[in-house]
Amino acid sequence: MINRQWLLASRPEGSIEDTNFSYKECEVPNRELKPNEILVKNLLFLCAPTMRNWMSPPGNSLYPSIPLGSPIMAPAIAVVIESASAEYAPGDRVSTRAGWQDYEILSTDLVPVGKIPDEMTSVDAMGKFGLNSLTGYFGMLEVGQPKENDVVVVSGAAGATGSVAAQIARIKGCRVIGIAGGDQKCRWLTEECQLDAAVNYKNATVEEELRQLCPDGINVYYDNVGGDILQAAIENMAVKGRIVLCGQISSYNDDKPSEGPRNMMRLIYGSITMQGFLTRNYTDNFPSAISNLKTWYEQGKVLFKEDVREGFENLPLFYRALFDGSNDGVLLVQINSD
Ligand SMILES: NC(=O)c1ccc[n+]([C@@H]2O[C@H](COP(=O)([O-])OP(=O)(O)OC[C@H]3O[C@@H](n4cnc5c(N)ncnc54)[C@H](OP(=O)(O)O)[C@@H]3O)[C@@H](O)[C@H]2O)c1
Repeated sequence: MINRQWLLASRPEGSIEDTNFSYKECEVPNRELKPNEILVKNLLFLCAPTMRNWMSPPGNSLYPSIPLGSPIMAPAIAVVIESASAEYAPGDRVSTRAGWQDYEILSTDLVPVGKIPDEMTSVDAMGKFGLNSLTGYFGMLEVGQPKENDVVVVSGAAGATGSVAAQIARIKGCRVIGIAGGDQKCRWLTEECQLDAAVNYKNATVEEELRQLCPDGINVYYDNVGGDILQAAIENMAVKGRIVLCGQISSYNDDKPSEGPRNMMRLIYGSITMQGFLTRNYTDNFPSAISNLKTWYEQGKVLFKEDVREGFENLPLFYRALFDGSNDGVLLVQINSD
């Protein structure tokens, strides 16, 4: 059996290029497993914007940067082929962090591994009820703490994380405005997700649009983007507003971390809080969050968009869709069938 791999050939400078990746075929790992190791076959990868940070030189990322010549690291769904762990048996499907390759040995002591219930498809486990939806859930509810009638603004609102955060704020009785790139995405937000308004940041002066849409200010701003859009929201925050820092995708392709807001006095005068968070801070509460998301989904209160693509060979090409906005919801790549 052949193990296909996509390796990090060079560190991207600016946008990701084909030359940053190299394709290799090698043998499937074939050694005796150590205690708590599992041999898995990867089935499905999540394309996560922050993987771009993992490709950068060491220094500014939560995870160690991917070593040159190693498989690209990504959130994955895999099936256990062999196990030296009492917790996982051959045939179990697991959610984990793996390399862009077909087969690998994972140490369950070193990487997060969670079993997927039999009744849940791999796409649902990584999509509707996966990391991005949970991010929107905890970021909005735990950090944003939206209250009825609050004015809530979400950037990256048509994306995997943002669309869930925005719809949860709507369920909580808030007036919700999404910011997204393109009229089609904005129409989806207002017509199907039933947000109150949407701003196409590619055609509008966001700061001015927000001023008109939120004359009394923004109570909760959920930020996936950073940069100028974060600044536009800061200029429009209401007193005691809350800013949820979820992501900074507008700067992931930059050589240096994006600068913070230009006008911190706005935060002081407005007694505004700005708080970052990581979804993994809330792992103990994942089961109840998934149960709530399922209920809302079955009641038609939350829509999820899953952009499922196929083909190991196209991983580097597909991944780039996150940065030109051509992904249509949570971006998943199926590389082997379940
Ligand atoms: N804190 C956490 O634990 C955590 C966990 C997961 C994700 N995140 C963050 O959440 C954010 C969204 O991630 P996701 O996986 O849900 O991706 P996503 O929103 O489904 O896809 C990325 C979207 O970002 C937008 N975008 C790309 N470049 C941009 C730019 N320069 N300016 C403005 N918008 C841009 C594009 O939408 P448009 O067409 O609207 O431009 C694109 O479709 C990311 O910042 C990610 O790092 C954080």
